Order: sequence, then C-alpha cells, then structure tokens
Amino acid sequence: MTNSLAVAVLAAGKGTRMRSRLPKVLHPLGGRTLVENVLASLSQVKTERQIAIVGYAADEVRSTLAHVTNLEFVEQTEQLGTGHAVQQVIPALAGFEGNLLVLNGDVPLLRPETIAKMVQTHVDNDNAATILTAQFDDPTGYGRVFCDENYIVTEIIEHRDCTPDQRANKRINSGIYCFNWQKLMTILPHLKSDNDQNEYYLTDVVKDLSPVMALDVDDIEEISGINNRKQLSDAATVLQRRIKDELMLSGITMLNPDSITIDATVTVEPDVIIEPETHLRGNTTIAAGCRIGPGTLIENSTIGENTTVRYSVINDSTVKGAGQIGPYTHLRGEVVIGEGCRIGNFVEVKKTTIGNKTNAAHLSYLGNATLGNKVNIGAGTITANYDGYNKHPTTIKDNAKTGSNSVLVAPVTLGENVTVGAGAVVTKDVDDDCLIVTRGERRVIKDWRPKFVDQQQTNKE
Ligand code: UD1
Ligand code: CA
Repeated sequence: MTNSLAVAVLAAGKGTRMRSRLPKVLHPLGGRTLVENVLASLSQVKTERQIAIVGYAADEVRSTLAHVTNLEFVEQTEQLGTGHAVQQVIPALAGFEGNLLVLNGDVPLLRPETIAKMVQTHVDNDNAATILTAQFDDPTGYGRVFCDENYIVTEIIEHRDCTPDQRANKRINSGIYCFNWQKLMTILPHLKSDNDQNEYYLTDVVKDLSPVMALDVDDIEEISGINNRKQLSDAATVLQRRIKDELMLSGITMLNPDSITIDATVTVEPDVIIEPETHLRGNTTIAAGCRIGPGTLIENSTIGENTTVRYSVINDSTVKGAGQIGPYTHLRGEVVIGEGCRIGNFVEVKKTTIGNKTNAAHLSYLGNATLGNKVNIGAGTITANYDGYNKHPTTIKDNAKTGSNSVLVAPVTLGENVTVGAGAVVTKDVDDDCLIVTRGERRVIKDWRPKFVDQQQTNKE
C-alpha cells in the first residue's frame, strides 16, 4: 500500500446558526475564510489530492477557492449527513490508493503540526482509521469516542444517541479523521441512516474498521468548531494571540498587543516596532526596522526597511524604504513611494508613483501622477485629475517645487527644476528650469469701505 494522501474538506453545510446569507465556511477569520484556514493547516503534509465537498452556495464557495492550486470540487446537492458527504468523493477517488484525511470546513484553528502528527501516527500504526479526539470538560453536543487504554476505538456515539452513562465520557470526536481508503471503501458505500436524525453518519464506519485509533490533542482550542458568531469571535481571539505571540518571539516589539490585530497572511520582519491601535491585513509585508503606528491600518501593501508610519491608512501600495508616512496620510491604492520620502501630514495619494527623496509634507492630493526624485510638493498642492468624466495624468519631474496652494490641472507636465509660484493654477505644460506664476496683479485700494458702512456705524451710536 502506498502512503499517498488525499484530503476531503467538508464544506457543504449552510451554517444556519451563523444567521448569515454568507455560507459559514466563507466567513473571514484572520484575513482568510474559514475554509482557507483549514486548507492552510495542510502545509506540513504532502497531499496528492485535495477535494472540497461543496453544497450550500456551491458556486460562491468554488469561486472563492478558485485560486487554490489543484483543489478539486465535488458537489453534495442534498446534505444528508457527514457519511453521505464523504460518499460524494468516491467517484473522484476511483483507483486511488492511500489514505484519506477528512477535515471539517468549520474547524479553522488546527495546527499544521497536529495534522502532520496525526497522519504520521496513522501510517506508523498501519491503522484503518485514526481519529483526532480530546477530553472536554463540557462535551455536550459532541459525538463520544469509546476506546480502551491503548486508544483503540470501538465506537463513536452521537450525543443525542448516548445513554446517561455514555454521556459521562468526556472524550469527544473532533470530526477530523485519517482513513485507509481501501478499508473505508469496504464500508462507506453501505452506510444506513437508521438513526435519530435519519442521516448517514460517517462515525458509523468506525465499528466495522480495525484498528481505529484515537489521538488526543493537547490543545483543545485547535479542534473547536465554528457554529455561531460568538465562536467566530472566540476563534479570532485565539488566532490573534497565536499570530502575535509568534511574531514577538521572532523579534518584533508590540506595544499593547491587545490593541493590535494582524492577519495570518501578513509578514513582519524582525526588529519592527508595532505601536498600539495598529491593524495589518491581507497580503502585507513590513520590512526590518520599521516603526508602524500608533493608529494605523495597512492592507495588501509592502513597507520597505526603516520606514515610519503613524496615524495613517495604506491600501494596495508600496513604500520602498526609509520613509516617513503620516501623521494622517492615506495611500489609497496603486501608489509606489520611492526611498526616503516624507508623505504627510494630511496627504492623500491615489494611483501615483513617486521617486526617491521626494516630499509632500502638508495637506495635498496627488492622483494619477508621476513624481520624480527630490520633488517638493508645497502645502496644499492639488492635482486636479478629474474633469467630471475622465481621470488625467500629471507628471512632475526631478527637483520641481510646487508653491503652496497650487492647482495642477491635468493633463499637465512640470519639467525638471520647475518652480510653481504659490496659488498658481497650472493648466499647460511647463518646460525645464522655468518659474511659473499665474497670479492676478497686486492692487491696493485705499479707503475702500462703502459709505453706508460709516452711516450704519453712526446710526448705532
Ligand atoms: C459531527 C460528528 C460528531 C463530532 C462533531 C465534531 C457525525 C455523525 N458526527 O457532528 O461525532 O463530534 O462533528 O464537530 O459525523 N456536512 C456536510 N454535509 C452534510 C452534513 C455535514 O458537508 O450532509 C459538513 C458540515 O457543513 C460541517 C461538518 O460536515 O462542516 C460536520 O457536520 P455537522 O452536521 O455539524 O456534524 P455534527 O452534528 O456537529
Ligand atoms: Ca458541527
């Protein structure tokens, strides 16, 4: 027999108790959906096949998981029980030799090490089935696993089918199994639904297989399933603690970690300091030596070495390094900022590429723009990129300097070394090395007050 491993992830249920139109397995946790967290827990085992069993909102689940390479889907159109769910993979696994790992799409906190250990135990003992189990203080609702002192399982009985004596057994079935596929195939097609719920129970295969072994997990948090949003929130707390503990031990300082959230998908290099009320999400990387926060949200962005980001929001952008971002900077997407730039206070940037050592230090909007190196954007400079119908580009070349409160009406290009006078409205391109001033001539009018003002003043007195 080979030790090839196939995986079936049960993801067909609606999850009624979530009270949501979103299928349960697509609820987010730590930057991924529940079922993506489950798939991530496979990182330490080599799998030959990965099959998701979908049913409720199948198309939505499929399209959310479309990015997962080599994931196959089978559909369980009617949810007739966990045994029925696994029966759906029989055609797909015709001719397969090896073991089948069964995971639940709503048990998202399994550690990769735990799955690896379970599969190894299964293979080492040449088990027909290996079941992940745990001792719960309150096992209410779970199937009870009955085994001898050598962890050899005789039976699993659902809570509702247990006698009071059987309910006293605190060893619960996590719903995570590894099966010898050939042996399972002798039983699985013949399941009966003669139980309280008229469902086909996967757990019924156990009494006809031998040997079946129980493997207790040390940390019961790993096998907690998500049935409602309270449990989702509890799982988020567990996951956050894990992510942040791991980061701190890898050399990242966090000031008040309870106020910080970091997705499982984020990479933070050593010697980063993360300050309070900071949230790092999605596909984000923070390079060594950065100081992030307080009060900062960064999503799907890359922050280069030794950058400081304070009280800012950054989405889908890159800051190359040694930058000072904020306070109150919003990089709204498709922004690339070169090295050694200062962006903020109060600066909004969208779809803009900025060279090295360029500053926009006060109150600006830069959109659809390309800025060179060592540009200085004066306080209040605005790229007027939108004419009400289309967006237009602005180009500002090396060493250009814009005056306070200048408006650059796109499409427009400022050449190298251009200086824009304060308050200018620039509607046409400016050549290299020029000064552009678009200011009304200064007029001083003496004794300007209208006569009636004097009259009113006299009347009051
Ligand atoms: C199941 C186990 C129980 C165990 C518990 C752990 C059985 C009969 N019981 O009970 O021993 O303690 O899990 O959480 O297996 N699903 C489908 N299609 C179906 C039915 C279920 O895909 O037709 C999926 C659900 O979406 C869910 C998982 O299978 O992700 C478990 O199903 P659920 O009905 O929640 O099983 P439990 O009653 O909790
Ligand atoms: Ca369940």
